[in-house]
Amino acid sequence: MASLVLPLLLLCAASQAILMFSTSTAAYPSNPGADTTDCSLSDKHEELIPVRREVYDGGRIIDISHRYTPDLPSWDSMGGLGQFLWLRQSMKNGSIANFSEMKLPTHTGTHVDSPGHFFDHYLDAGFDVDTLDLEVLNGLALLIDVPRDKNITAEVMKDLNIPKGTRRVLFRTLNTDRQLMFKKYYDTSYVGFMKDGAKWLVENTDIKLVGIDYLSAAAHEDLTAAHLVFLEGRDIILVEGLKLDDIQPGIYSVRCLPLRLLGAEGSPIRCILIN
Ligand SMILES: *[C@@H]1O[C@H](CO)[C@@H](O)[C@H](O)[C@H]1NC(C)=O
Ligand SMILES: *[C@@H]1O[C@H](CO)[C@@H](O)[C@H](O)[C@H]1NC(C)=O
Ligand SMILES: *[C@@H]1O[C@H](CO)[C@@H](O)[C@H](O)[C@H]1NC(C)=O
Repeated sequence: MASLVLPLLLLCAASQAILMFSTSTAAYPSNPGADTTDCSLSDKHEELIPVRREVYDGGRIIDISHRYTPDLPSWDSMGGLGQFLWLRQSMKNGSIANFSEMKLPTHTGTHVDSPGHFFDHYLDAGFDVDTLDLEVLNGLALLIDVPRDKNITAEVMKDLNIPKGTRRVLFRTLNTDRQLMFKKYYDTSYVGFMKDGAKWLVENTDIKLVGIDYLSAAAHEDLTAAHLVFLEGRDIILVEGLKLDDIQPGIYSVRCLPLRLLGAEGSPIRCILIN
């Protein structure tokens, strides 16, 4: 037992050092509702307390994916995702190991859309998440704040003055301020792209990765129209439900990896930013 506790204590101390350091760099993303790291109990050598982080290595790596919990908002649901994970075999019941299984809508939490999401013939032809270009999903990205009083229209896109050649943009909106991803109910008043905003992006920019901070890149009002504009060319990838709280706007290296779900038009995705 003692041999297990000591490394954990060290880990805990290290994580506190990281927290202190990153607060002072203002790069520490908050995570409303999450457990805060509390190492007080471990001094008593009694409890094993895992470290849950939003940042690693003093802020060099920032996790911009949401944690999967039953309280995540879920498409068209007032009650959230609900139970999605359970133990099929459990040690408490005499099994040799704990063994869970899960059932998850593929567009839950931080996730990615493939062209087949809104184009049936693309899905039939095999344009699933396994065909998404990892080059687009990994590389330099701009994190940018959009005006809080509008959805993303052509005018808004134009005024953002995103430099030509920018291929990956994470759009932070009012959704982050409203902490919509931390609210159970699906809120249709979220901010997203209007059809003309999507069209402007497609026609006037080099952006291929569009990241957004709620469950859909398209505003509810233009849900189908804006998705169609984005996905028709099969070269733009939508990453939705990103966790962009308290991160400085600017240029980062983004890394996003979807699951290789053959035949699926959506997938959970883990995304991180590297400074
Ligand atoms: C193993 O399963 C038990 C329930 O039998 C659960 O309380 C415990 O948290 C599980 N451990 C892990 C590591 O999942
Ligand atoms: C263990 O078995 C009991 C009795 O069959 C059952 O009620 C309980 O849900 C099981 N627990 C887990 C974690 O599988
Ligand atoms: C964005 O559009 C939605 C409808 O899709 C609307 O409910 C919401 O108020 C709009 N947000 C802003 C900031 O204009």
